[in-house]
Amino acid sequence: MGLLLKILVPFVGLVLAFCFYSKEDFNPEMLKGKRVIVTGASTGIGEQMAYHLARMGAHVLITARTEAKLQKVVTRCLELGAASAHFMNGSMEDMALAEDVVKEAKHLWGGLDMLILNHIGYTYFNYFDGDVEHIRKLLEINFLSYVAMTVSALPMLKESGGSILVVSSKAGKIGIPFVAPYSATKFALDGFFSSLRQELIIKNISVSITLCILGHIATETAEKTVSHVMQKPGAPKEECALEIIRSGALRKRELYYPYTAHCLAIDLAQASLLDESLENKAG
Ligand SMILES: NC(=O)c1ccc[n+]([C@@H]2O[C@H](COP(=O)([O-])OP(=O)(O)OC[C@H]3O[C@@H](n4cnc5c(N)ncnc54)[C@H](OP(=O)(O)O)[C@@H]3O)[C@@H](O)[C@H]2O)c1
Ligand SMILES: *[C@@H]1O[C@H](CO)[C@@H](O)[C@H](O)[C@H]1NC(C)=O
Ligand SMILES: *[C@@H]1O[C@H](CO)[C@@H](O)[C@H](O)[C@H]1NC(C)=O
Repeated sequence: MGLLLKILVPFVGLVLAFCFYSKEDFNPEMLKGKRVIVTGASTGIGEQMAYHLARMGAHVLITARTEAKLQKVVTRCLELGAASAHFMNGSMEDMALAEDVVKEAKHLWGGLDMLILNHIGYTYFNYFDGDVEHIRKLLEINFLSYVAMTVSALPMLKESGGSILVVSSKAGKIGIPFVAPYSATKFALDGFFSSLRQELIIKNISVSITLCILGHIATETAEKTVSHVMQKPGAPKEECALEIIRSGALRKRELYYPYTAHCLAIDLAQASLLDESLENKAG
């Protein structure tokens, strides 16, 4: 009985705490009239984020390379109730495009409330093949363009007290085989944005940064490349997209989706390390 209590009570407490923690009140109205950029929104999770934002009545500016797909997503966004919807096409290998997208938001709306960084370049799922150029290119698309867009957008985000949402992966928290180039770019995002987040806190700048650590999600790309090695089907992209927007609107530090025991362990370990580093800074 004693042993049972010792295990059961903390466990139930943890579950309850988690339920309360995760039910902080999100209201779709929070996004109404907000000005949002979503990158990599021609398909997959990005496309679904654009639709959720449209239903919530936000202004959206979406980007990817394929003009025809973006055009369709914009049309659908307007049907769903977006306050406005625009797109810009081009490749994020080009830092000029990254900056131009932010300039376009300034031109369209005169400001920005939320920057959702979500696009990724094509990579292979296999043993590392020694191709250094591929890593350089992937770092440009998956990492450097995120930094370039953030630098361009920070003045507008400071003015609006806005948010940056960075879409990453479990492969950006732990090394797993067959994704070495991809994993490297996602770790880079964690390093850069977790460091920047702390600097913003120290400088009392009210721009939140939410790092989204995703597991297997059932998008077309994931179905094609990794679903054959996964034991379970991917989590739904629609729900994933909503969770990302929700945690950004609530200004959370990190989102884990889908949430597993694995995630809880990483999350708790990081939270305690973070408390310590902020205490050191304060002390
Ligand atoms: N699906 C999963 O299982 C999973 C798991 C963990 C993390 N994630 C993360 O979730 C995010 C979205 O993943 P997803 O599965 O939705 O991906 P996806 O369906 O493949 O979509 C990727 C998006 O990026 C765009 N894109 C590709 N190359 C580009 C380039 N060079 N320049 C600009 N845009 C480019 C694509 O459009 P174009 O081809 O038209 O350019 C598309 O809109 C990514 O950050 C990914 O790492 C996904
Ligand atoms: C946008 O798409 C159109 C049509 O595919 C293409 O002609 C144009 O070069 C693209 N723009 C950029 C910047 O890639
Ligand atoms: C931080 O900023 C808020 C307003 O944005 C202000 O009320 C508060 O006094 C500031 N705190 C510090 C320590 O500067």
